[in-house]
Amino acid sequence: MTGIIAAMSCEAELILNVMQNKAPRALCGITFWQGKVGGEDVVLATCGVGKVFAAACAVAMIMEFKPDRIINTGVAGAVSSEVNKLDTVVATALVQHDMDTTPLGDDPGLISGINKVFFETDRSLSDELYGFVELCGGKAKRGVVATGDQFVADNETKKRISTLFGASCADMEGGAIAQVCFVNNVPFAALRTMSDGADGDASGDFAEFCNKAAKISSNVLISYLNSIKA
Ligand code: ADE
Repeated sequence: MTGIIAAMSCEAELILNVMQNKAPRALCGITFWQGKVGGEDVVLATCGVGKVFAAACAVAMIMEFKPDRIINTGVAGAVSSEVNKLDTVVATALVQHDMDTTPLGDDPGLISGINKVFFETDRSLSDELYGFVELCGGKAKRGVVATGDQFVADNETKKRISTLFGASCADMEGGAIAQVCFVNNVPFAALRTMSDGADGDASGDFAEFCNKAAKISSNVLISYLNSIKA
């Protein structure tokens, strides 16, 4: 079974529309839809925006549905000059850019206890998703996704995130899901299509491109799920 987590309904609705035999189940205030896409058993959740909802959703999904892998889909803001609006970043690793115990001598982004800054994604799953971005006519990039409880919309923050972490884009959920998957040994991948450039124009661009970007990411995921043999 493949678990899919999106933050907003516009990032999940295309997948929900093609899901067969779907049944809802509410946990932690989140609706989990179980069904089939192509031959694949899927559980799909729209977790809400931010790291707390994302982590709660990932924990509930893993405990209750025991997915073999989890994929995070949705939109993000580009923080690298090599990534453009509507490009799709397939995450090589995720980091939490707002995790900061540097006054204690730690590296920026370090998660104490497990001593990790970057959560690497599952290589073969990510390679497959990358191939489907191209097959679907999208522009595929690989890179680090930087997560924080912040909609990045200024050049200073954008530069900090790209310089400190070598990130390609910023989102608000991926790093939290990656951490939950890591501690539970669940293979994880993330697919994010750029709605904006995380700069001074980001709020206007987000309003204009969010739906279009969300559809690109969803279509890639649907193509991937349809390719899995029953
Ligand atoms: N998701 C889409 N655009 C974003 C941005 N600029 N910052 C954080 N998350 C985002």
